Formats: sequence, C-alpha cells, structure tokens
Amino acid sequence: MISTSLLRIFLTGSFRPFVFGNIPTKSLDYQNEKQLGLYIHIPFCLSLCSFCPYCKVIYNKNTAIEYKEALLREIDLVGSELTEKKEVTSLYFGGGTPSLMIDDLFDIVTVLQKYFRIKNGIGIELHPNDVSDKNLTLLKNAGVNMISIGVQSFDRNCLSLIGRAYDDFSKKIRIAEQYEFDVIDVDLIFALPGQTEEILLSDIETAFSSGATQISTYPFIDFTFSNNKYKPLSEKYKKRLLEVINRYCIATDKERTSVWTFTLKNTQQYSSVTRDNFLGFGVSATTLLHKQFKINTFSIKAYIERIKMNRLPTSLTLHFSFRQRIVYYLFWRFYGTKINKIQFRNFFGIDLYKIYPFELFLGKIVGLIKEDETNYFLTEKGIYYYHLIEQKYTNAYIDKMWNISRNVDFPEKIVLR
Ligand SMILES: C[S@@+](CC[C@H](N)C(=O)[O-])C[C@H]1O[C@@H](n2cnc3c(N)ncnc32)[C@H](O)[C@@H]1O
Ligand code: SF4
Repeated sequence: MISTSLLRIFLTGSFRPFVFGNIPTKSLDYQNEKQLGLYIHIPFCLSLCSFCPYCKVIYNKNTAIEYKEALLREIDLVGSELTEKKEVTSLYFGGGTPSLMIDDLFDIVTVLQKYFRIKNGIGIELHPNDVSDKNLTLLKNAGVNMISIGVQSFDRNCLSLIGRAYDDFSKKIRIAEQYEFDVIDVDLIFALPGQTEEILLSDIETAFSSGATQISTYPFIDFTFSNNKYKPLSEKYKKRLLEVINRYCIATDKERTSVWTFTLKNTQQYSSVTRDNFLGFGVSATTLLHKQFKINTFSIKAYIERIKMNRLPTSLTLHFSFRQRIVYYLFWRFYGTKINKIQFRNFFGIDLYKIYPFELFLGKIVGLIKEDETNYFLTEKGIYYYHLIEQKYTNAYIDKMWNISRNVDFPEKIVLR
C-alpha cells in the first residue's frame, strides 16, 4: 500500500490523493473530446464464477427487460447533450456476459447511432458457451467486428480448480473463425493453481492455432471480495510464466500490443481500456474525460430508479488535477507499452519531457524506458515492473473501490491514497 502511495506522490508531485465524491452529474460536457470511445456494461451471467470481480448478477429475464429500457434512456440523456452527431472511435460491450442480451444489441446500437458515428467497429465479450452459429450471425447483423472469448484455459484441471466446466473450447474458436471477424481475442488467465509452463504454452498455442488473432493473458488476481478456493501461484512463478508467454510470442512473431496482450501482426487490436476518453453506460460503467472520471452505481435497482427520475446514475466522480490526469493517461498508455510524444503533446498541450525530465532520465538510466524519435517505450524490464505495479494498483485501488461500490449504491466519498 505504501509503495502505491509513494509512487502516486512522486508522479503527481503532490500529496493530494484521488478523491471520488458523490457529486450529481448535470452535464458531461464531452462535445469537444477527441478520440472518444463508447462502453456498454451488461451485468448478467448464467452462473457466477468465484474468481471474477466484475459487476454482475444471475440473469433474470424481467430484470434484463427493465435494464435495457434504462440503458436506452441513459444513452438518450447523455446523447442529447450533443448538438450534432459525434464521431467515436469504437463501441465495446463488456460484462458480465453481454451475449445474454444479444437480441437487444441491435436496438442498443441503433439508439447509439442516433448520436454517434462509430469509426473503427464494435467489440463484444463472449462466454465460450455462447459461441454458436445463431449468436455469431446475430452479432454480424448488429455490426460487431471484434469478439473476445473468455476461455481462461483449455486445460480440464485448471478450469475445474477455478470452478469452470470443461468443454472443447478450441472448437468454438474455429466456429467463430468462419465468420471472418476482424478480431478474435481469447482471454487466458495465467498463474492458475496447478498451471505449469507446458499447460500455459499449450493454451497459447491452442488459441492461435484455432483462429485467435489476439490473446489476452491476465495474471490471476485474488480480489478480497471474491471467493477463490484455490489461490493464484506466487509472484515469482507469475514472473516466470510472463517470460514464457513473451518468449513464445517473440519466437512465433506476434506483436506485443500491451503488457498482457499479444496480437498477430497487421491485425486490429481488441482493447477496451487503452483509450484517451470514453463514455460508459450501464451499471458500474466508468466515463473518462479530460477533466473528470465518473463511475455509475453498481446496483441494478438503484440504476433503474435513478434513470426513471431522468437523472444520470453516477455514484462517484473524480475531478482530476492536471498532474493526476497526466498520471492516469500515462498509466494506461504505458499498459500499451509506449507513449507517442506527439499524441501526448496534443492531449496536454505540453511535452512529456518538460513535465518529467528527471523521471524519464532516471527511467532510462535504470533500463525501464527507451526513447526514439516518436515514442517513449517500456523495455522488457520496464514491462515486468509495469506488470507488478498494475497488480498493486488493482489490489490497492480497484479492489477497494469495487468492494465499497458492491455494498453501497451511492457512497459519500472514496479516497485512494
Ligand atoms: C468480464 S470477464 C469475461 C467475460 C465473459 N463473461 C466470460 O466469462 O468469458 C473479462 C475477463 O477478465 C478476466 N478475469 C476475470 N477475473 C479475473 C481474475 N480474478 N484475475 C485475472 N483475470 C480475470 C478473464 O480472463 C475474463 O475473461
Ligand atoms: S467470468 Fe464471465 S461468466 Fe464468470 S462471472 Fe465473470 S463475467 Fe460472469
């Protein structure tokens, strides 16, 4: 905890923590934001996995019908701030299991298109059990061009230790391949109990040979509020496995598109987090803009009630200081392993080296960062430290935030130090 606080103080140049308050959102004031993305949260699953921290409940048809109405209304409330149609980079559906509302996707996309022009396509997370010809056809008809399948592992034993039923998921990826999506991402978790280097390598190989264009390999994280019977393998072992993934991907000519994702060369990337700005709709969805970050309530009931009052369902808002916004930007850009110098200047109106002359110098001296004309990028060593830091912040910030939000519909205040 102390290390996360010190790093925050060091990089923001201030003792001021991240303070999220219960501040009613009148207007989001996002008309002039460039490179804006859209995110929709669908919080339903057929069964709840013990390891999963995301905001979700067991699927119920009547609740899903009410939720859809509220979601469309939230889009209208936010969209009507615009005076003309706005171009957005992409639209991602996450969850939960968004495919449980697959018959509603077309309506949701249609309402969004009243306000937004989606430039680079639509992505959706799928549970492997939902990969079927019927569903893939519906997705294609709704304009989806990127899918992400939550396989976690192809190994029977690893799956059973995290409470997932085994099936031949490689077959599902092959079915999806026939539909010619631009992106087929396969989510894999590493450092699962019982997972050896051989099992992990076989998982990665199976994913690519079955038709994945990208793999997302997340280190298993044990959230305080999850109910994991078996704990993740040690950090030392995680380090070894991360090296194994990297070596395999270098040997087979994959591109590292973020600390935890590897992609076939010259294919589009599935990435719902590495964006400068985005609008989020639905329970627990976050919205990131130049000056603020806001989170919707995690409670479906409270969300629907708020929307019925024609009010945005925001539970917490953070108004960034300039340096806090920079740190937030760098955090997600470095997740993508590099910072483009011109993009940074365009976003903040100042060069990165003018803000962090000493830190960049130090980063280069100790071998965490390299620089060329266009970018600062993380070295192999830098990527490993990022992997450690990301997990630390997940434990210190996300775990705390989500734990409170799961229990209190509209918390008064959350302070992240
Ligand atoms: C919203 S979830 C998955 C969507 C879909 N419902 C599914 O189960 O396939 C997104 C991804 O987060 C990853 N994930 C979930 N819990 C995790 C944990 N405790 N540690 C690491 N990764 C996790 C999984 O790889 C999962 O596929
Ligand atoms: S991993 Fe997927 S199916 Fe399991 S609870 Fe999380 S969102 Fe639902």
